[in-house]
Amino acid sequence: MIEPHIQVYSNVDALSRAAAKRFAALALEAVTARGRFTVALSGGGTPQGLYQRLAHHPFRDQLPWAQTHFFWGDERSVPPTDPESNFHQAQLALFDHIAVPPENLHRVKGEWEPRAAANDYASQLCQFASPDLAWPRFDLVLLGLGRDGHTASLFPGPIDSGDPCPSPVLAVTADYQGRPARRVTLTPLVLNSARHVFFLVAGADKAEALKATLAGPLEPERWPAQRILLDQGTLTWLVDEAAATALHAALS
Ligand code: 6PG
Repeated sequence: MIEPHIQVYSNVDALSRAAAKRFAALALEAVTARGRFTVALSGGGTPQGLYQRLAHHPFRDQLPWAQTHFFWGDERSVPPTDPESNFHQAQLALFDHIAVPPENLHRVKGEWEPRAAANDYASQLCQFASPDLAWPRFDLVLLGLGRDGHTASLFPGPIDSGDPCPSPVLAVTADYQGRPARRVTLTPLVLNSARHVFFLVAGADKAEALKATLAGPLEPERWPAQRILLDQGTLTWLVDEAAATALHAALS
């Protein structure tokens, strides 16, 4: 298994700046090596600073957007115009500002019933399948970490369809922040096949989940981000000081 690399930044702005540089390097490397860059975006607030940086000079003008294919690690079961939609949030922060062809945006159809959307998304992944897989070996997967330890839409508890999950995409209904959250998510089957995974984690409210995930006992049902294990490529945690406070103590 690949050891995770943990990089601590003074604050979320410094984290976002570093993430943008790393994103750009991987995009140029992928397009040079394979003619395209496949990336699965994360939802939530933490990556918005990264998306906004990519939407401005120099990245806006220098990255190979025509060869970049955007997917999502998960999506809420809402229409693409809904403020809660991960696609909508990326559209406002990034796609409205860069020359990415609309056909390069491979969104989960949040407006559909989750199981139908999951099946459709699995078919979209198939069209970009890498050899020996039914999905792309993503050049980059961006992930966040919830206060409860979830990542993408892999929430605490067993994975309904079996553990390890045999499907590349799942429709899930989770109870999150006191209300049911209907979502579609990539599963560890896909996430763990990526060439590079970035976790972006910022804020004091993530400190306990970060410590438990990275320095606590292996309990993937309680801390689902522990399901993200790569046997090749790189796994990098880009975290800010506020989120790393409990981790420092645990690792020292
Ligand atoms: C989503 C994300 C989710 C997110 C975490 C952290 O759809 O919301 O995929 O997994 O990464 O909830 O969210 P914040 O970055 O807003 O803390």
